[in-house]
Amino acid sequence: MLFLVLLSLSIHLRSATALLSTGVIFPLYFFPNVNFNDNCTAWQPVISAISANPTLPFLFIVNPASGPGSANSQPDPAYQGCIPQLANHANVRIIGYVSTVFGNRDVTAVVTDIATYAQWSAPYRPTGIFFDETNATSPLESQYQSYATAVHQDLGSSAFATFNPGVNPPDTNFYTFADLIVSVENFFASFNPSQLVISGASPAQKQAVILHDGPTTTSVDLVKQLVALNLGYLFFTDFTHDNSEDYKHVPTDWANFCSVVASAQS
Ligand SMILES: *[C@@H]1O[C@H](CO)[C@@H](O)[C@H](O)[C@H]1NC(C)=O
Ligand SMILES: *[C@@H]1O[C@H](CO)[C@@H](O)[C@H](O)[C@H]1NC(C)=O
Repeated sequence: MLFLVLLSLSIHLRSATALLSTGVIFPLYFFPNVNFNDNCTAWQPVISAISANPTLPFLFIVNPASGPGSANSQPDPAYQGCIPQLANHANVRIIGYVSTVFGNRDVTAVVTDIATYAQWSAPYRPTGIFFDETNATSPLESQYQSYATAVHQDLGSSAFATFNPGVNPPDTNFYTFADLIVSVENFFASFNPSQLVISGASPAQKQAVILHDGPTTTSVDLVKQLVALNLGYLFFTDFTHDNSEDYKHVPTDWANFCSVVASAQS
């Protein structure tokens, strides 16, 4: 009996530690349905990729209304029904979009957005927050650190505080309270891995690279280089930054991109 308990414990431990170290982050800034009540048709390629790559970590940023919507609201029923179809997998984490306007957004409005996500019902409640337009400079450090504290207070100690300066943070102290920092958000053609700053104070596992306006076929070489650096999360899309199309669609090569990121680690 004890043997069986230990055996089942070891199987659980093994499956709990089986996730790959580089995952996929997806700014999922579009509505889950195409037509009314069509059971998450717009998100179907995303749901398929989760099942097809069970050891690949996925981080999905949900963004119903440039944030969670009005204070203490629940999201549209489509989000209530479709977020669980993503979240019901061990390799998925959902984080809620919060705008910070480079430190110029009212602190109370930011904290209210975090609290609004935190009172969503459990099946679709995010387990982290994505702070967009982060100003990662020293004068703003205490403000952003207070946001990380609010994430852990409202959503739990293991919740994920993600910050998006889109560039290497000028103040590396941001890494001490961030779970993840998007250190590159750029045009595919403007990016070179040599732009990354990886050190003890700015660890690769806490960094994500998001590239838009890319080729319609995944650059396997670039994925391999970034995986070799042990980056936390990657996202490449061929959709364009002009008119904010980049995060409103599933990338053309999405299914292949996910399998390339996974197989680069095997
Ligand atoms: C919606 O699709 C999922 C699979 O993607 C399925 O499990 C579920 O039963 C469907 N729900 C309805 C109401 O059709
Ligand atoms: C970030 O904050 C610094 C210091 O307050 C300020 O000088 C800079 O303009 C801010 N950056 C942006 C993009 O607002």
